[in-house]
Amino acid sequence: MKTLLVATKNRGKVKEICKKLAGFDLEVRSLLDLDNALAIVEDADTFAGNAIKKARTVSDALEVPVLADDSGLEVDALGGRPGIYSARFGGDGLDDEARYLYLLEQLKKTERGDLGARFRCAVAYVEPGARPVVFDGTLEGTITFDARGDRGFGYDPIFIPRGDVRTLAEYDMEEKNRISHRAKALAAFVDFFKARQS
Ligand code: IMP
Repeated sequence: MKTLLVATKNRGKVKEICKKLAGFDLEVRSLLDLDNALAIVEDADTFAGNAIKKARTVSDALEVPVLADDSGLEVDALGGRPGIYSARFGGDGLDDEARYLYLLEQLKKTERGDLGARFRCAVAYVEPGARPVVFDGTLEGTITFDARGDRGFGYDPIFIPRGDVRTLAEYDMEEKNRISHRAKALAAFVDFFKARQS
């Protein structure tokens, strides 16, 4: 059986990826299964660049096929910020709520009525010695100042997917996993992987 290593320590992501790859004769492992800590510096200037860097670093070190992702929120009125800096926007010490409140403060300061935003995800697949392959997923929506919902994580309470009135934090996990930026990027990877197996 082949092994695919997912370059993350996020249990939610591992679970979601395992579910999507359930039909394959594949052992899915993650950085949670490894003892040795690999230092990965996410210093690229795009989601794809960071995803490739993570996947490449782990694949080179362990000589196995690796899947990695990078994601974040782009807000139009903030010129696309926080983007690749989503996880640390406003500083390192903030929790999720303080971080989205910080974003809302920045948005108020712009005095622009434009609330357009999107989540983006890039998934990179790297096999030892091969060129990386990248898959993208986007979820379009708007920012709301009326934060609500207690599910999900990160900026979910202030993000309303296009065509809905609920925030992403009011979706249950199954529903979010059907429409999310990450789900779309992973679905594109699964299609690619399926085509390769046949
Ligand atoms: P990472 O790619 O998992 O490191 O995510 C980067 C950051 O983007 C997270 O820390 C969140 O702030 C934000 N983010 C990414 N995906 C989501 C999502 O599905 N909901 C809310 N926030 C997200």
